[in-house]
Amino acid sequence: MFVYYIGIDLGTSSMKLLLMDARGTIMRSVTKEYPLEFPKPGWSQQNPEDWKRALLEGIPELLEGFDAGAVAGIGCGGQMHGLVVLDEADNVIRPAILWNDGRTSRQVERLNNGVGKEKLSAWTANIAFAGFTAPKLLWMRENEPELFARIAKIMLPKDYINYILTGVHSSDYSDASGTLLLDVEHKCWSKEMLALCALSEAQMPTLFESYACIGTISPDMAGKLGLPETVKVCAGAGDNAAAAVGTGTVGEGGCNISLGTSGTVFVSSEKFGVDPNNALHAFAHADGGWHLMGCILCAASCNKWFLEEILKTDDYNGEQAAVDEARLGENHVFFLPYLMGERSPINDTNARGTFIGMTMDTTRSDLVQAVLEGVAFAIRDSVEVARSLGITVTSSRICGGGARSALWKKIIANVLNCELEIPFSEQGPGMGGAMLAMVACGEYASVKDCCDKLCSVASTVKPDPALAARYEAKYHQFRKIYPACKDLFAALN
Ligand code: XUL
Repeated sequence: MFVYYIGIDLGTSSMKLLLMDARGTIMRSVTKEYPLEFPKPGWSQQNPEDWKRALLEGIPELLEGFDAGAVAGIGCGGQMHGLVVLDEADNVIRPAILWNDGRTSRQVERLNNGVGKEKLSAWTANIAFAGFTAPKLLWMRENEPELFARIAKIMLPKDYINYILTGVHSSDYSDASGTLLLDVEHKCWSKEMLALCALSEAQMPTLFESYACIGTISPDMAGKLGLPETVKVCAGAGDNAAAAVGTGTVGEGGCNISLGTSGTVFVSSEKFGVDPNNALHAFAHADGGWHLMGCILCAASCNKWFLEEILKTDDYNGEQAAVDEARLGENHVFFLPYLMGERSPINDTNARGTFIGMTMDTTRSDLVQAVLEGVAFAIRDSVEVARSLGITVTSSRICGGGARSALWKKIIANVLNCELEIPFSEQGPGMGGAMLAMVACGEYASVKDCCDKLCSVASTVKPDPALAARYEAKYHQFRKIYPACKDLFAALN
């Protein structure tokens, strides 16, 4: 008998749903887009009702022509850190404040310098970053006190989807790690952080491992979606942990790069560990272990912005084909990809996107190339932090929409001087979500077992020593630009 699993990737621009069999074959995928609001410079929010609509339309569309009765489980990997607040009646109180929102710089400054990084790190294994959930709660308390007073439950974006499906208020350790409210080492809510944010444990969702079943879908949802009431929903994971599962990055020392709206470098570990400078996040992983992660706020979104908003084209292949590969490592134009400020490792909400080094002979394709390279250099900044901690990064998996570009993968492999392993599917979080559901349904004994059976590498991109050497020199030039602009960025804001 056929059994199907539904994997959901709750992304920033769209929800991607996929239907998978127990061998990992993707039978169909459906994408539902929704709007993203930037109500003020640096602010970023979304309406959870739009996610719900995408879910209610997406699942029936995904199942068209398939036996819905064969669906056993659902798992979601979701954009992290977003603040979803519900009142006593479980109504959404305000639009969700997203992971790339920079409004909380004052709260971050008070947390890191007032409370102090040492205490925050001892309580949560992390320090404050603007996109994290706790500073947003402090912002709400100060700026929207009447709304803050109505909060009955706090959730992360994919937890809201799980709540819609099951009626259960849950979260998982990987996603909860990014709230700055979790004691990551001991996998429980931090009493100190809850007190500091004037919150009680009753306002927090119940915590699960990502591969645990939180319940079955409600009869109402089963009816609406055309699914049997036996469908199990797993706790799911933050999108980066889910993507790591989808690419087989579990256990000790695996590395995955995600080239989506954000760009992340994810190093998995069986042991809990903290970056002593907290430049990398120390979070729980969806396989039951932990990981260190660097996150740049604009990765594929820089390319999308430059092509669609500035060059007014959607011909990504054409623009990249015009880049002369002999010019790789020779570009005199640099791009700082800080269009939404930056998280890792500089933690600066004032940082801004910048082209520098143009001359009269600069061409359109030099700028297209500079954008791809600027993102690669910013990713290398996080890789360098990992290397400085003694972590060997000579090989990494890669996933996300940007990883479909052969040119970008070549640039990244050479900028990082690291071999890139390309999985058969670049659908990281959705694939990981479906795999977590398989473990929750008992199809596989563990996340590791599921990865061993379902994840394989389709091809590899190896760095070329001469090109890597040219990029090494360029990277050292790139590294000088932000420190030279830092004070100016602050003054401009
Ligand atoms: C990770 C982060 C982003 C979002 C993107 O810390 O903020 O990667 O999860 O969806």
